[in-house]
This record gives sequence, C-alpha cells and structure tokens, in this order.
Amino acid sequence: MSTQNRVERRRVTVLDLPEMKARGERIAVLTAYDYLFARVVDQAGTDVILVGDSLAHVVLGLDSTLSITLDDMIYHARAVRRGVERALVVVDMPFLTYQVSVEEAVRNAGRVMKESGVGAVKLEGGSPRAAATVEALTQAGIPVMGHLGFTPQSVNALGGNRVQGRDPEGRGRLLEEAHRLQQAGAFSIVLELVPGDLATEISRSLRIPTIGIGAGVGCDGQVLVLQDMLGLNRDFQPRFLRRFAELGDAAESAVREYVRAVREGEYPGDEHTFD
Ligand code: KIV
Repeated sequence: MSTQNRVERRRVTVLDLPEMKARGERIAVLTAYDYLFARVVDQAGTDVILVGDSLAHVVLGLDSTLSITLDDMIYHARAVRRGVERALVVVDMPFLTYQVSVEEAVRNAGRVMKESGVGAVKLEGGSPRAAATVEALTQAGIPVMGHLGFTPQSVNALGGNRVQGRDPEGRGRLLEEAHRLQQAGAFSIVLELVPGDLATEISRSLRIPTIGIGAGVGCDGQVLVLQDMLGLNRDFQPRFLRRFAELGDAAESAVREYVRAVREGEYPGDEHTFD
C-alpha cells in the first residue's frame, strides 16, 4: 500500500471535522446499525458513521425512537464498531438517558464509550440544561455531537415531524442554541428539518461543522439514514430524501426468484451439491 493510501485510511477523529470545515471539505455522514453494512459504508469512504436511534424505525419497525434503550444502542454500536476501520463512529444517546441529570448523562455516555469503543456520542437539544450536559461530557473526555431543529425524541412536544425555525422567534432560538452548543464544546451539530437559508446562516456563523438532514446544501455536511437512501425503506419518501439505489425492489425480486427456483426444483442444482 502506498503512503498516500495509508494516510487516507487513517481513522477520522473529532478534531478532523472542524479542520475539514475550515478547508471547505464537505463531510459525508450515514447511519449504520450492523457489522456488514458498517463495513460497506466505511469502505465507501464515509467520514462519520452514526449509530442512530432511528434504528427504532428502520431496524425494529417502531413508530418513534422513545422506547430505545441504552443497551439497544450499545449492542448495535459494538457490531458497527467491529466493521469500521476509518470513519468516526458516533452513537445516539437514547431518550431519557441524558436529560434527568448531568451525573446520569456522564455515567450513561461513559458506558457507551467503554462498552462499544466508539469515538463520540450525539444528544438532542440546545437548552442551557442540554448545554451544561454537553460541557460535562466534554470535560469528562467524551466528545459530543449536538442535534437541533426537529429533534425526534421530542416528537410529542413538537407536535409531529415538522420543519423548525420558520418564524422569527424560532429562527433566533435555533441560532442561539447552536452557539450555546458550540460554546459548551460540541464538535459538530446535526440540523434536522430546518429551512435552507437558516441552516446556511447557522453554518456560516459557527466554527464547528453542521451536518444537515432536510436542511439544504448550506450545511457543512450531510447525513441520511442508510436504509432510506438505499431504497430499502420503500414507504418513506420525504422531500429531502434522494434514493441512491432501489435495494428494496432488488431484494424483493431476488427473493421472488429464489422462491420460484426452490418450488420448481431448479435450486439447488448439481453444482451446489457435494459428492
Ligand atoms: O437517529 C438518527 O438516525 C439521526 C439522524 C437522522 C441524524 O439522528
């Protein structure tokens, strides 16, 4: 392997992301929840792999992320971590594992780091209380990615999956929250379902990178849920989503072909049979 290739395979760290922003390099982020997909996503050059609590939807078929536990996240994070050589792996802290008290947040995030070996955690919200938690985690040596805009763990309080920051008050609040998280030590911030011009304004005003989902091209990077962008989640087609493949359709026709071949006695053939 050439020196050049070896340098490119160096593990991405939380320090690389603000540097990428400073150099104007856009950051590619995807979710993964298991070993084999994590390998594919990593080997394709993704910078950050998020073990998102969106696994509630695309792995477990649940309506919301609220019932995901810390043990669920650690279980999936360990599988993902085993498949990744280069990308920075970030794990979502589930609902009510970091909101009750700062001490509990440090203990729970510490468990994620110790038991899965990932590089950082992500948590939702930008209130002064959330920022105090980000600060305590950062001081404990646990890097934190923030998450603002539509925050799925607050879906009940927000009245559904809605674009946030459309009115002047909401815009001001999001801008303020983003700066509060940066000040508290977050190394980057996901902006979900935020108007494009606001996401651009926030991104330009921060030193740390923003990672958009439904927030337009003005963010410093982009994240999508893997199953959505691969076309495996066939009923889900929000405006912000581009499908880069139709693997749901491909998988269904492969399985139909298998069923036909088994029923007609065409598979297994002689070439699949041991002497
Ligand atoms: O859980 C998740 O996958 C996320 C992304 C959508 C940002 O939080």
